[in-house]
Amino acid sequence: MCGIIGYIGPKSVVPILVEGLKRLEYRGYDSAGVAVVDENQINIRRVHGKIAALEKSLEESPLDGIYGVGHTRWATHGRPCEENAHPHQDCTGSVVVVHNGIIENYLALKKKLKKEGHTFRTETDTEIIAHLVEKYFKGSLEEAVQRAVQDLDGAYAVAVISSKDPEKIVAAKVGPPIVVGLGKKEFFISSDINPLLSYTQKVVFLEDGEMAVIEPTGANFFDFKGKVLEKKVHHLSWSRLMAEKSGFKHFMLKEIFEQPQVVRDTLKGRVFLDSGKICLDEIGVSPELFKKTERVVIIACGTSYHAGLVGKYLIEAMAQIPVDIEFASEYRYRDFILDKKALVIVISQSGETADSLAALRIIKEMKPLTLSICNAVNSSIARETDGVLYTHAGPEIGVAATKTYSAQIVALALLAMHLAQIKGRIDEKASLALIEELGRIPHKMEKILNQAKSIEDLASKFVSFSHFLYLGRGVSFPVALEGALKLKEISYIHAEAYPGGEMKHGPIALIEENMPTMAIVPRDRVYAKMLSNISEIKARIGYILAVASEDDKEIEERVDKVIPVPSTEPLFTPFLTTLPLQLFAYYIGAMRGADVDQPRNLAKSVTVE
Ligand code: F6R
Repeated sequence: MCGIIGYIGPKSVVPILVEGLKRLEYRGYDSAGVAVVDENQINIRRVHGKIAALEKSLEESPLDGIYGVGHTRWATHGRPCEENAHPHQDCTGSVVVVHNGIIENYLALKKKLKKEGHTFRTETDTEIIAHLVEKYFKGSLEEAVQRAVQDLDGAYAVAVISSKDPEKIVAAKVGPPIVVGLGKKEFFISSDINPLLSYTQKVVFLEDGEMAVIEPTGANFFDFKGKVLEKKVHHLSWSRLMAEKSGFKHFMLKEIFEQPQVVRDTLKGRVFLDSGKICLDEIGVSPELFKKTERVVIIACGTSYHAGLVGKYLIEAMAQIPVDIEFASEYRYRDFILDKKALVIVISQSGETADSLAALRIIKEMKPLTLSICNAVNSSIARETDGVLYTHAGPEIGVAATKTYSAQIVALALLAMHLAQIKGRIDEKASLALIEELGRIPHKMEKILNQAKSIEDLASKFVSFSHFLYLGRGVSFPVALEGALKLKEISYIHAEAYPGGEMKHGPIALIEENMPTMAIVPRDRVYAKMLSNISEIKARIGYILAVASEDDKEIEERVDKVIPVPSTEPLFTPFLTTLPLQLFAYYIGAMRGADVDQPRNLAKSVTVE
């Protein structure tokens, strides 16, 4: 979703803003712009399209300034076009605003402001903020912003500058994230930490209802009533290098290849091979509280939902606790039933997904124990749950989630074992065997990644197909869902996933030679059932690819092509079977010339509903 960057300090502002926007690109956008202030004159440049177009325009006709703001826009209100691109201005051109989020009462406010004589230039909801600041400005920009936000309903992260109160950037937040970077005599406002990594590791995260004012001399924090706040300074552990492509053609490919390390990092310090114990004290939830859990509800969206579905199989099998898994966007509008003995787990890479956050806030009214599995440290969801189990995947820049999915299922496996141990539902020997196998997963992943070339060759045969079916049963069903989602978002090929047993209830009607099937068939308790489902497809002239155990000779007779993966404990097969599907989707997408790191219409962090 939209990205905001702001800079004030001794360096030349335009390159910093443009570089910052590039590091926010992955969030998804359709237009971009900057506003810089030079001798109290605000200069704005906006383009419809990519940041490369903005750079070109700035090369052809450079802008200069001593501070400024930049923005990538993901259209919500108003078409994606240059006029609607941010920054937006008031009537006088002295106030400039960039905004992430949605102002729900903007039509009513616009009507009122028009009656009061304000002239609007765009179709956006954002423009009303500039006019409100203009209306309330009496000499202090922060006071005008404080007054303006009182009129707004909805979600917003804003950064505002005014040539009438120069050398400061004011940011305010209700909903989407704002992080303030504290450098050496330079200060930043950003939607996430990625643009800041090149300059500082010291950051402050704004909470809802808070504002920041950055000036050349420092950063100050206030609530919306103007009360001064003492904010905690966080020291980031991510480095700039982690957010580089490091020789890979795309971030997505790099992130797929990082998965063995991500699994190691997410396990590190949490498993003990001598005792078979899992140590998750860092979550901050006592074993006694976990012990009371009689039901688990997992809430998530997209790929995180698929990881959650894997988690359902893991928790039910290991801890023997019933698990419901729910789409956050559906759950939040349902008359759901929860009691205090439920453990609610919200899974979110970004920790900022609007639906997941809103569902969490509704759920919390019923006072169950809440836990999050997040990758972004100190994100809203991480902050608002009783406990957080971080995935140590590092920054994920490719819009399509890959390494964070693997990290999420590591976290879920650890949690499942933790619950099982607390509830006394797993003995030491079984724990130890599972932990040892988890420790072997990274090496087995490496073996799969070593076959990338053969998966690329295989992918080349399917570049011109328009449809694909993905099948799996048991814990391989979420893998099928995830494989189909990756193919859809990266290559724009229509792909559907079904549990194998559901085929005969309808989808089998689709089978013909132009509808290939990707079957996920590890050796587990539903293996024989999957073979029957495969035979049913084969009998109808369907082409079948299978992701199967490398020691499985039988499958070779049944399908057209096998992608072998090392054998593992059946519950852990998603760690291995997902990888070839990610690679397959990646190579098809890349060969079709798609923008794999920033697929059309998608945003990395979906901070609006
Ligand atoms: C797909 C993808 C999305 C996200 C979803 C949830 O590749 O990345 O489906 O998984 O938008 O995002 P988070 O995990 O940040 O809540």
